[in-house]
Amino acid sequence: MAGVKFQNVTKIFGKDVKAVNDLNLDINDGEFMVLVGPSGCGKTTALRMIAGLEEATSGSLIIGETTVNDVPPKDRDIAMVFQNYALYPHMTVYDNIAFGLKLRELKGFFWQIANSSDASKIKADIDSRVKEAAKMLDIDHLLHRKPKELSGGQRQRVALGRAIVRKPKVFLMDEPLSNLDAKLRIQTRAELIRLHRDLGITTIYVTHDQVEAMTMGQRIAVMNNGLLQQCDVPETVYNQPANKFVAGFVGAPPMNFLEGKITGGKFVSGDVTFGLPSGHPAASMEGKAVTFGIRPEDIYDASLNHLPKTNENSFTAKVDVLEKLGAEDTAYLDSDGVHITATLDPANRLEMGTPAEFVIDLEKAHIFDGETELAIR
Ligand SMILES: Nc1ncnc2c1ncn2[C@@H]1O[C@H](COP(=O)(O)OP(=O)(O)OP(=O)(O)O)[C@@H](O)[C@H]1O
Ligand SMILES: [Mg+2]
Repeated sequence: MAGVKFQNVTKIFGKDVKAVNDLNLDINDGEFMVLVGPSGCGKTTALRMIAGLEEATSGSLIIGETTVNDVPPKDRDIAMVFQNYALYPHMTVYDNIAFGLKLRELKGFFWQIANSSDASKIKADIDSRVKEAAKMLDIDHLLHRKPKELSGGQRQRVALGRAIVRKPKVFLMDEPLSNLDAKLRIQTRAELIRLHRDLGITTIYVTHDQVEAMTMGQRIAVMNNGLLQQCDVPETVYNQPANKFVAGFVGAPPMNFLEGKITGGKFVSGDVTFGLPSGHPAASMEGKAVTFGIRPEDIYDASLNHLPKTNENSFTAKVDVLEKLGAEDTAYLDSDGVHITATLDPANRLEMGTPAEFVIDLEKAHIFDGETELAIR
């Protein structure tokens, strides 16, 4: 087992495609770290550099105590699961899982004809590792089947089994669930979390799905345009996003943003005035251009009296669309051309096409610098 460190790692493709830009990230031994960000932000490239499939342009990659920039992939003791896990179609599940191990462990032997006691000991060890992994993944009853005789989720688990039996120092997973349907994805997500808990192997997991990141990561590293935006536990990334990008990327429906200025210690945008969270440093930044951010769940139907209404925490808006989801409603609001999303108690009395009053929980508001987009706090 080992931790993984990126030290000032940059990857430039061709002349000027900076896929990863001066990445510093310290992944602890045994940690489940999720790299998340939009398409093209450099997640796969970062992962492939750890695997040794891509060479860093500059900086150091460290696995455990070893700088591995010059260590060939096969000697890095990592196992990677890709989005398009290619199983060998002509091999059984058993052989698919065992194949990599046989190649590695039986280097000096010719598998089919090896008879020495050493070879049979290795074979027995491989056999027990394959069966143990298959049992863990609940595919032990499928070992004799070929990939085409399996469901998508079962195939995915075979690919995981192939990685698990290697007992690597580090697991690298690149969107391993994206081929699965929604239900299976949620189920396999839970299985991966359990697996990590049981095996305790350092895992770096790449996804563009912020829900996957939030639910799976012990910590999550949010990337954009090759740059690390924030790395922290999911609650902190959600509740204290470092900048406007992170605030808008994590959370669904996304955070609402309103552009305006600090005037008289308050946020003002056109006719709208909102107070700031108590003691907020932006209050003293008179005239500063800022973005006011509020999550959909921090907006309430004023008529339900969840929060006392004041002149500084309320607004009127037309209810464009009201989606009834059962546990909550999503309302798409229009306040003088400004679009706002709110998730509301299903007991709300809103009607589509009709204006209503809303209150926001100012203590949950986020204020971002209008120029740098960094959170002011
Ligand atoms: N071999 C390559 N040659 C040139 N540019 C590349 C190469 N591989 C990746 N890139 C570019 O580097 C950037 C990062 O790509 P990368 O595959 O790491 O993104 P990603 O975050 O994994 O995206 P996705 O979510 O779509 O998989 C992109 O702009 C991509 O076009
Ligand atoms: Mg990718």
